[in-house]
Amino acid sequence: MYNTLLVLVEDGICTIVINRPDKMNALNKEVFNELEKAIDEVYRSPEIRSAIITGAGSKAFVAGADISEFLELKADQSAALAKRGQVVFDKIENSPKPIVAAVNGFALGGGCELSLACHFIYASENAKFGQPEVNLGLIPGYGGTQRLTQVAGRNRAMELLMTGKVITAREAMQYGIVNEVTTAEELLSKVKDVLMLVHSKAPVAVAKVIECVNNFDHTQEGYDFEIKKFGECFQTEDMKEGASAFLEKRKANFKGK
Ligand code: COA
Repeated sequence: MYNTLLVLVEDGICTIVINRPDKMNALNKEVFNELEKAIDEVYRSPEIRSAIITGAGSKAFVAGADISEFLELKADQSAALAKRGQVVFDKIENSPKPIVAAVNGFALGGGCELSLACHFIYASENAKFGQPEVNLGLIPGYGGTQRLTQVAGRNRAMELLMTGKVITAREAMQYGIVNEVTTAEELLSKVKDVLMLVHSKAPVAVAKVIECVNNFDHTQEGYDFEIKKFGECFQTEDMKEGASAFLEKRKANFKGK
């Protein structure tokens, strides 16, 4: 069904593995097309409650956009390439179901941007993060200048983007990029554990958390958006079930409605 991905659904979790290990899982056009298709399925399938994105092999999560596709590009084609990457990554960021990056090796350039588009990141001890585009006379094009600045702050983002330096998983955790560092062996099971915890919560509320955090805004608009989404929760069966279950001292049975 896919040439460049391995996709497996188990316990409501869709694990999407970028599968070009001989090319460090670099993102070419086909990977983008297939990744979009897989994410569409995450949105659509009632069987899927959440997703994990990871890389095949033990060396790389994703070592960036496929540089071999770059040299033939004219200015308008390069803008289209960035736009295409941004459309797919926006779809990941705006998924109503949680999508977590399990970074198992190099997350460079577009790979770092892919991990940042996910809702949060767990990384193995051998993972490395960086935006080395300046080495190629480039800047990130898949949202990296924006998301890295949001996550790591202006000064950290400036330094990483200007120097192209590569940092370890633990440094990335200090920068606020990574939530948790695990051994390589435990990475997927730790991500699955946190997703099973999210699965036990009200799905509509989880989707609204994603919407509100993505809508983060320093102005009053972000707060107003939260008020609107809070109000919408009160119209769900799950909210009535959650509050009743607490008062009746029993476990809530959420239906996603
Ligand atoms: N695009 C296309 N091919 C890539 C790639 C990328 N972003 N990253 C790695 N590859 C390919 C290499 O060309 C090589 O292919 P080959 O075996 O046909 O020669 C193969 O993957 C293995 O990579 P190699 O560089 O030999 O492995 P390494 O262990 O010595 O180094 C990296 C690993 C990740 C440090 C190195 O591959 C690298 O720096 N990649 C580019 C990172 C980058 O600049 N990304 C931003 C792109 S905008």
